[in-house]
Amino acid sequence: MNILMVSSECVPFVKTGGLADVVGTLPKYLKKNGHDVRIIIPKYSVIDGVKYNLKTLPYRLAVRLGKEEIYFRIKQGFLDENIPVYFIENMRFFDRSGVYGDDNGIGYGDNRERYIFFCKAVIESIKAMLFVPDIIHCNDWHTGLIPAYLKITNAYDGFFWKTSAIYTIHNIAFQGSFDAATSVPLAGFSWEDYKSDKLEFYNTFNFMKAGIVYTDIVSTVSPTYAKEIQAGFGNGMEVVLKTRKSDIYGILNGIDYSYWNPETDNNLAANYSKQNIENKILCRKDLIEICNFENGNNSFVLSCVSRFDNQKGFDLIIDAINRIQNTNIKFIILGSGDRYIRDTLLYLQNKYPETVKIFNKYDENLAHKIYAGSDAFLMPSHFEPCGLSQLIALAYGTIPIVNKTGGLADTIYDFDKSKTPNGFVFDLYSGESFVEKIKYAYKIFNDKTAWKNLQNNAIKCSFTWDKSVKEYEKIYNIALKRKINSTIYR
Ligand code: ADP
Ligand code: GLC
Repeated sequence: MNILMVSSECVPFVKTGGLADVVGTLPKYLKKNGHDVRIIIPKYSVIDGVKYNLKTLPYRLAVRLGKEEIYFRIKQGFLDENIPVYFIENMRFFDRSGVYGDDNGIGYGDNRERYIFFCKAVIESIKAMLFVPDIIHCNDWHTGLIPAYLKITNAYDGFFWKTSAIYTIHNIAFQGSFDAATSVPLAGFSWEDYKSDKLEFYNTFNFMKAGIVYTDIVSTVSPTYAKEIQAGFGNGMEVVLKTRKSDIYGILNGIDYSYWNPETDNNLAANYSKQNIENKILCRKDLIEICNFENGNNSFVLSCVSRFDNQKGFDLIIDAINRIQNTNIKFIILGSGDRYIRDTLLYLQNKYPETVKIFNKYDENLAHKIYAGSDAFLMPSHFEPCGLSQLIALAYGTIPIVNKTGGLADTIYDFDKSKTPNGFVFDLYSGESFVEKIKYAYKIFNDKTAWKNLQNNAIKCSFTWDKSVKEYEKIYNIALKRKINSTIYR
């Protein structure tokens, strides 16, 4: 199959969250299974063209944004040396210090223009390169217009005679909803297309709705989240999802175990493995030193590596820091984003210097040290489509403490409720339940045998892409078959 993966981010080139991990990993498994898979993302200036040896392709292309012609180039690099990655280059839209917004978490005012441009440029680029996809796999709101272009403006374009679209929702909280009066003409649609069963969404122009309505198959990143978004956690999109009920699939993300591997990870003070976890303690010692905590070597180290966003349950983390005053329990948090969360955490660090350490930044190397050096990982998310951080924590034998929602419910098995537990799960979203679970985990931590068993279960968990890639192949095939049938009858 010819597969084009379209996304706004992809590791190792650019990452703000788990979307990048998924888009940079799933294609490797598709490639292994014999598909011609390629990736296309914007060429943000944060992507280092020299480091990744990007070459400019000889195409001279333009798309129309309203009445304006926007010219662009395509750069090409490779993922794993054999998966072509195309970068849409236009400095007006992508030469910024951030990806979606500035350092204070404020989104860029022209994100609508940036991603209308990107969606249109993707269509023009593959036509110029003569890459005819069987599947265009779109991800999140930034790519939502592509299925709509395929079915509306390019419906009779012979180039796409065999192309189907898959639309994966990684987070329904971000939909790309904009003023309709200006967006419809800007994106090149007609008012005929702006009807309630088409592009219109509560009087707005909504990228995600376009993706859901016009794609062939909708997927999301865990079975539980697939149910949740249709039943009250869909941020208003429930009515739209209802119309696609039989076309919605929940496919759990995996992680890249060749990258997240304590045995070979060279960011760590010491390596350890499933067979011998002893050296994990040296990683904790290193982390305690990095945090400048005194006498912390035997303490219970709780960590969190995350975007600062209400989604991630920071109200509960803040509550827990305030309530748990035990010098033997440390909180180490690495993240960036929302300014209120950032300032409150920094305030707590000042208030409790012996137990709280906040790193306000994005830091891949430090993230590895934290996953390895801590005992438990806090993820009390309000909602969580899949979550990769809890899976990474497991890979490092670090025990997740999570709220029972979305992908967390699908991957973390509670200490008291499962025969092979790998974490602690609370099911009422409240400070009380969270603090209780932390205290309970601390009790188990002090029972060395019980904790060791838990660590062994955790580090042995395997959420690989091998299984999920087959599920993606299944939905690609469903989309393909439908396309072939509809082409025959046309
Ligand atoms: P989301 O995509 O909602 O942010 P996920 O759990 O799916 O959540 O993925 C988060 C990814 O981003 C993980 O790989 C995590 O390690 C990484 N990450 C988040 N914040 C930071 C940070 N400040 N520094 C380094 N890595 C981070
Ligand atoms: C989103 C979700 C997260 C998921 C990631 C990758 O950012 O918030 O839960 O793991 O996408 O699918």
